Amino acid sequence: MKRHPVAKASDIPPGGRKIVRAGAAEVGLFNVGGEIRAYRNVCPHAGAPVCSGRVSGTSMPSRVYEYIYGMEGCILRCPWHGWEFDLRTGEHLVDPQNRLKAVPVENEALERIPLEQSDGTVYVLLPG
Ligand code: FES
Repeated sequence: MKRHPVAKASDIPPGGRKIVRAGAAEVGLFNVGGEIRAYRNVCPHAGAPVCSGRVSGTSMPSRVYEYIYGMEGCILRCPWHGWEFDLRTGEHLVDPQNRLKAVPVENEALERIPLEQSDGTVYVLLPG
């Protein structure tokens, strides 16, 4: 694994985002409730720059004619076709097969990248 310094933690306040380059990869850094999450900037559906999508909440499971909004700040919506991902886990909200796991990239949901913080610097760890 190669360690890439990509940002200062202070650059990404709670609710914030920063898209950075780490070697050949583009990575989206998100501060979700005080925790930094990092994902490759490639949507598993059709390759959109998913990390540039809108961060919001979503409709929660509810009864007919009942609309409940929740998970504000935890949902990343892909800018091309609107797939929604939970920024806390990287999981697609509807399709549980799109979970983060060590499988070939084309079959992965948002690929979470190991991340370290030390001295206020955020590093992403990528193969190579
Ligand atoms: S490319 Fe992201 S939802 Fe289609």
